[in-house]
Amino acid sequence: MVQRVSTVAFEGIEARAVDVQVQVAPGLPAFAIVGLPDKAVSEARERVRSALIASGLALPARRITVNLAPADLPKEGSHYDLPIALGLMAAIGAIPPDALSGFTVLGELGLDGSIAPVAGVLPAAIGANARDEGLICPAACGAEAAWASPDIQIVAASSLIQIANHFKGTQVLSRPSPKVHEREEALLDLRDIKGQESAKRALEIAAAGGHHLLMIGSPGAGKSMLAARLPSILPPLSPSELLEVSMIASVAGEIEGGALTARRPFRAPRLSRPMSSRARKAPLLAW
Ligand SMILES: Nc1ncnc2c1ncn2[C@@H]1O[C@H](COP(=O)(O)OP(=O)(O)OP(=O)(O)O)[C@@H](O)[C@H]1O
Ligand SMILES: [Mg+2]
Repeated sequence: MVQRVSTVAFEGIEARAVDVQVQVAPGLPAFAIVGLPDKAVSEARERVRSALIASGLALPARRITVNLAPADLPKEGSHYDLPIALGLMAAIGAIPPDALSGFTVLGELGLDGSIAPVAGVLPAAIGANARDEGLICPAACGAEAAWASPDIQIVAASSLIQIANHFKGTQVLSRPSPKVHEREEALLDLRDIKGQESAKRALEIAAAGGHHLLMIGSPGAGKSMLAARLPSILPPLSPSELLEVSMIASVAGEIEGGALTARRPFRAPRLSRPMSSRARKAPLLAW
């Protein structure tokens, strides 16, 4: 029998549905993952095997095949560990076979069976909500997922054992609630700039009218200094903008502790810390 678990693959900030099919068949013991996996996905085998052993479950001495459908869509990242492990657990009867239907699953496994945070939980939750599915994700990402909708069912667990207990009903996990950053660092403020009256006026006009700005000036003239203070005179993010900006931050793995921030993004590529490869692929919001 084939056990099916839903997960997602990211294309930019879009989360595309991916079907993880797990088959445990008679034959020589083997564990293969097919469906255009990258190196991180192929290595899931070792993490899944160790995590199941650490959780008191052994892989059956049979032929295990995991297919990630659609097979022509490249699969990148470590978030396939959890759907593969849960599909296997359902296939060997460690959790009820129908427990995972209606859930999108993503998460990375540690060798000890713990579930580590992954990038992209917010777009995954929004995608799951659009398909009327719930979400199973790492505990550290629960607050981020809860932003997708007040009704979406979320199981945010910190280990495989917690998920097994949740579905057996022995220790039901409560739904996480959405979080925002409570103490934001003080924003750079335009009023701190002395002089530069015409430049400040240009910033105000651009901010009020929603225009683009091109700053030309000799090195050290204060272009970056002025640009960094533009967010301080822009209105707060609207709820839809907040979600859009946060989806990019989520895919780039830049949401800390699951808390979203209502601050308008400012990126200064020459000045900021080196970006992660995922952040580099995300659309650029401000220069
Ligand atoms: N009007 C000003 N008042 C106070 N400090 C200023 C002023 N203009 C520039 N500075 C100082 O000079 C520093 C360099 O300015 P900034 O980095 O904004 O220049 P820039 O125009 O972006 O230069 P570059 O072309 O090299 O990127 C600022 O961080 C600030 O400390
Ligand atoms: Mg500059």
